[in-house]
Amino acid sequence: MTDESLMGEIKMPERKDFSANANAAATAPAFFSAHDIHAYYGESYIVQGVSFNIHEGEILALLGRNGAGKTSTLRAIARTGSPQVTHGEIWLDHQPLHRMKSYEAAQAGLSLVPEDRRIIAGLTVEENLELARIAPHPGWEIERVYELFPRLGERRNQEGITLSGGEQQMLAIGRALVRDIKLLLLDEPYEGLAPVIVDEIEKTLNVIKAQGITTVLVEQNALRALALADRAVILDTGSVVFDGLASEVLENEQLRHDYLAI
Ligand SMILES: Nc1ncnc2c1ncn2[C@@H]1O[C@H](COP(=O)(O)OP(=O)(O)OP(=O)(O)O)[C@@H](O)[C@H]1O
Ligand SMILES: [Mg+2]
Repeated sequence: MTDESLMGEIKMPERKDFSANANAAATAPAFFSAHDIHAYYGESYIVQGVSFNIHEGEILALLGRNGAGKTSTLRAIARTGSPQVTHGEIWLDHQPLHRMKSYEAAQAGLSLVPEDRRIIAGLTVEENLELARIAPHPGWEIERVYELFPRLGERRNQEGITLSGGEQQMLAIGRALVRDIKLLLLDEPYEGLAPVIVDEIEKTLNVIKAQGITTVLVEQNALRALALADRAVILDTGSVVFDGLASEVLENEQLRHDYLAI
């Protein structure tokens, strides 16, 4: 990641209030704000000027068809270096993520739970959690994660990668919570899971929300995501085509048909 070259291209004005173009309700600068992000994989121009805000404590559903650019947008925000962000500003609680590398963004309170969950092989459930808790600012106690996900407590000495898909998702979320995070980015947490497990994870996302953690939820299962989310942003070919209340998407058949195929 060539953050140095990125720095050269990004103009750094005073912290502007971007909220006007994204959420009519916002008057103060948003807790999280992505402003005009452009990002490339090599020559491929994928994230094409994405802007949106998130208020503290909100769940935002980031939706769109396959290939719309959801994962790429999350990876751009998490500063993974691929795709490479060439333009734009990303602010989290007054911190300029666009100037940071991925580990710095993580230290600033960002946590991306990728689709493949990245459970560490050879470590038990508890060791996976302990390792995540080594972060400079620890968050939840491990016992609190077990209260949220009793299945994990029951399996604390089992090797993490031998868990079921749903349990691995719980462990991946648990690992984020044991760090002191400000923004949780979840990429398709319901992927491949039975409805009963999706129910369980959905319930815990509500608990997490009640603790004040701000979340971006990327989901193919748009109806379930919209039922949980406060607001929704819909992407199409790397651009925002809708930004508003989740309930507005549920009520707008045309929008659902055109961009979500539901
Ligand atoms: N590493 C990469 N190199 C080149 N192109 C990529 C790479 N990763 C993704 N893309 C392309 O970027 C576009 C957006 O992909 P992305 O994974 O962000 O979409 P998505 O909305 O997450 O889709 P899905 O719902 O299928 O997960 C797609 O056209 C994809 O082929
Ligand atoms: Mg994706």
